Amino acid sequence: GQNGLAAKPPMGWNSWNHFAGHVTDADVRSAADELVSTGMRDAGYVYVNVDDTWQGERDAQGVLHTNSRFPDMKALGDYIHSKGLKFGIYSSPGAKTCGGYAGSLGHEAQDAKMYASWGVDFLKYDLCSFQDNMNQAKAEHPNDPNAAKDLMIAAYRKMGDALKATGRPILYSLCQYGVDQPWKWGPGLGANMWRTTDDIDDSYGRMIAIGFSQAGLSKYAAPGHWNDPDMLEVGNGKMTEDEYKTHMSLWVILAAPLLAGNDLSKMSDSDKSILMNKDAIAIDQDSLGKQGDRLYESGDLDVWTKPLSGGRVAVGLFNRSWSVREVSVDLAAIGFRNGGNVRDVWEQKDMGQRKGVVTETLPKHGAALLIVSK
Ligand code: DGJ
Repeated sequence: GQNGLAAKPPMGWNSWNHFAGHVTDADVRSAADELVSTGMRDAGYVYVNVDDTWQGERDAQGVLHTNSRFPDMKALGDYIHSKGLKFGIYSSPGAKTCGGYAGSLGHEAQDAKMYASWGVDFLKYDLCSFQDNMNQAKAEHPNDPNAAKDLMIAAYRKMGDALKATGRPILYSLCQYGVDQPWKWGPGLGANMWRTTDDIDDSYGRMIAIGFSQAGLSKYAAPGHWNDPDMLEVGNGKMTEDEYKTHMSLWVILAAPLLAGNDLSKMSDSDKSILMNKDAIAIDQDSLGKQGDRLYESGDLDVWTKPLSGGRVAVGLFNRSWSVREVSVDLAAIGFRNGGNVRDVWEQKDMGQRKGVVTETLPKHGAALLIVSK
């Protein structure tokens, strides 16, 4: 991106998926502590992002204050930085955030300066009530099919410019649910990532609906700016271990930002091993910076590949059915005519030199993640 950030898909934690509108300063500090003590920070999860509902009221000078759950944002940022982590915050281009708190409309430069003074490193900018402004523009300009889109892009550009003007590198994350294909205009205004869909939730159905809908988007991702299929639900408890492995497998193949969304103080060994699998993270963070895409789909079976540095290829094999199924990939079809060395990421084992068709037996809703090298 123009700000030099996000050479690799951003990694960290965000408060929303677990704490939602109840998040407190103490929850965020505890998340920072846990990122360090669990080893997640050292695995790459460095952003600590406060999502919606931290805001209080604007005063007569237009300065936005925090609410009582966040007594001192500068101190919170200092605490996060003292742990070797980075600090993220949240706002909206609208008058109101999705949670009904104050947005940045009309206060973009003022808010950006305040974030910079707090030491903010990341801003998630969530469309929310700006959709009202867009509907109004549409009503006022019935003959201009781009009225709403142009207004939205201008609003995102305004905050992007305000962030740049602070002189502090602040990663810019667009959250507008994929409306009007942000992958086409996001890079032009300096965005480092943009949501491609509406919200995820902690269910297998919603997670795969998002994940598999990303086919065809790979060409829009590159170092500096990434497609964002939304934050992780691993560890939130409503999916099985196999389903969470499918979630992580898809997200790393997609070179997605990896923002954990769980309560880090209550992780099972399985949650930890999924979120901190070194090979899976390395697939996501690979230096080639290419998003993966679908190789083929056949009923409930799906195979995706992601080119990696050094001529390697990551392969995701997925079984969406309710029973055990075999899923195969022909190594010759993915550039390994003479075979290749295969590593199984979730089994954490080398399968050795293989040639031709490699078949995995996958449980219901299961996935295998392979790294193939010469
Ligand atoms: C909608 C976003 O998509 C979510 O990720 C979250 O930020 C909520 N808004 C907060 O209100």
